[in-house]
Amino acid sequence: GRQRIAVIAGDGIGTEVMPEGVRVLRAAADVFGLSLEFTEFDFASAEYYERHGDMLPEDWFETLSAFDAIYFGAVGWPDRVPDHISLWGSLLKFRRGFDQYVNLRPCRLMPGIPSPLAGREPGDIDFYVVRENTEGEYSSVGGIMFEGTDREVVLQETVMSRTGVDRILDFAFELADRRPARHLTSATKSNGISITMPWWDSRVREAGRRFPEVRLDQYHIDILTANFVLHPDRFDVVVASNLFGDILSDLGPACTGTIGVAPSANINPSREFPSLFEPVHGSAPDIAGRGIANPIGQIWSGAMMLEHLGHEDAAAAVVSAIEAVLAKGARRSPLTPDIGGTGTTAELGAAIAEELGAS
Ligand code: NAI
Ligand code: MG
Repeated sequence: GRQRIAVIAGDGIGTEVMPEGVRVLRAAADVFGLSLEFTEFDFASAEYYERHGDMLPEDWFETLSAFDAIYFGAVGWPDRVPDHISLWGSLLKFRRGFDQYVNLRPCRLMPGIPSPLAGREPGDIDFYVVRENTEGEYSSVGGIMFEGTDREVVLQETVMSRTGVDRILDFAFELADRRPARHLTSATKSNGISITMPWWDSRVREAGRRFPEVRLDQYHIDILTANFVLHPDRFDVVVASNLFGDILSDLGPACTGTIGVAPSANINPSREFPSLFEPVHGSAPDIAGRGIANPIGQIWSGAMMLEHLGHEDAAAAVVSAIEAVLAKGARRSPLTPDIGGTGTTAELGAAIAEELGAS
């Protein structure tokens, strides 16, 4: 049946890359006979904030709940709205309100993009970071005692619940179980953080019993970050708490080249609420308005959305089209300046849509 997608372009280059994301999704819908309906919204932007004094309308929850997925660009325009207002007033409300407890980021070396890691070729790096997105180290439990005195003491607690940890582990194991390598790595620090992390490890072992086919290992977070750089080929699916996952999910894509290419998903696996798909990058005010932003992060996020909506073939075709266009290089494809070309956002989006139709 018909699937409804809420389109929120946001700020800066979000408004430039989003039309290319929609263009490629429409092309995929044509080729694969999908019925996707797009509805655009102007909230979650500096402009909306300046007009209404808030980032979102009061009924945002009801409005967006009616959609099968949210396709998001980028939010933030520090000269116009302080970043904590734009982020906490929009994206973080979506994540919490829609219980998007999984943050998923593929880390994949793409053809034609020089690897920042010497000697690595496309195919060598291809893994997922699964970050817990709702609890853990980012709790607001804590406070400052004896503030302003020599006796000042500051505390901030880590909060891990059995439900919260088990559900992220289940998602990660299920993902690993579907992939050919069937390998899951857990990020821990049980040698230093002596209460929560040994408990996290025990929940990992427990979940592992339900997935006997998945090879399981664990690394302490310090050596794990080193291994992301030194041996990225060792990883298939990596699962981590909120803080560790935050770090790994920036480091992973950084190891594979430009920030303009990386996608991400904020997923509510129960499908009770819509999940949100967005590029890793922000609104890039430094290049906004020039039509040179790389649209691939937005387009690849669209592929993740197709997969979530049950269209695995269409999703794979979009990723293949991106790879094919990149592989032709800057001489034969209109690559944007960040990846060594002189193409525009629209030219690159059109090239990917055309490749999809041709394949
Ligand atoms: P940014 O990701 O917007 O930009 C970082 C650098 O990468 C800039 O030099 C930019 O030109 C470049 N870049 C980013 N995306 C690109 C693309 N598609 N093509 C070519 N070059 C690209 O991060 P920054 O500058 O720290 O933040 C700018 C604003 O975006 C802030 O308001 C920030 O809060 C917001 N932001 C929003 C995010 C979101 O909506 N999820 C994520 C990250 C930042
Ligand atoms: Mg981060």
